[in-house]
Amino acid sequence: MARLVVRIDVFTLFPEAFDWFSRQVHVTRARDLGTELHLWNYRDHTPLRHAQVDDTPYGGGAGMVLRIDVVCAALEAVFNVPAERVRETRRVIELTPRGRQLDDPLAGELAQGDLCLLCGRYEGIDERVANLVTDRVSIGPYVLSGGEIAAQALLDAVVRKIEGAVSNPESVVGDSFSERLGGALEYPHYTRPAEFRGWRVPDVLLSGDHGAVERWRRERLREREGHSTD
Ligand code: 6GU
Repeated sequence: MARLVVRIDVFTLFPEAFDWFSRQVHVTRARDLGTELHLWNYRDHTPLRHAQVDDTPYGGGAGMVLRIDVVCAALEAVFNVPAERVRETRRVIELTPRGRQLDDPLAGELAQGDLCLLCGRYEGIDERVANLVTDRVSIGPYVLSGGEIAAQALLDAVVRKIEGAVSNPESVVGDSFSERLGGALEYPHYTRPAEFRGWRVPDVLLSGDHGAVERWRRERLREREGHSTD
């Protein structure tokens, strides 16, 4: 497991979108363990009048594009170095549906050092953001209205990799896609009542036979491609 994410900076037009996430117990525990989570509003650092942050796209088309001068000004205000040098000391990640799709190995990799996340809104960030980032990450093949939900999905997966953030380490080691399961999805879980409306919990889980339970769970691991793990 990782313990190297010391600082996470998130740039967004909607820092309040992270309120619920920041209060989650694994996130507050990561904080207590020394991981700082900083939220920054591009609007607070814009060099433009009237708190302007976006503009219409060159070439025409719908929507608004987050301006590159605004992104640079925010990064420079926070890190006190030229914006294109921020990536020398941390992964700088643009959340975009055009990025590399997030998976468990990437989450583990991102947990190895400091992170700076750039969320776009509307039609996204001016393409010249490519000069500032180390990574462009997507959370799946569909389009969301902004990067905030994607950033929280990424951070949730990363925080789970921080040693001590999740109270029971077994629940992380046994997580879906984890190494112990050979990259497989998790097995199904049941709890009381043992029978409800005629829906019964599989007998083997009530048997107290740990070996049989383990075998049953292995049989029920699903691999990404959908075939058996044995
Ligand atoms: Cl990272 N951003 C947006 N806007 N949409 C997405 C996404 C990111 N990942 C999947 N869809």
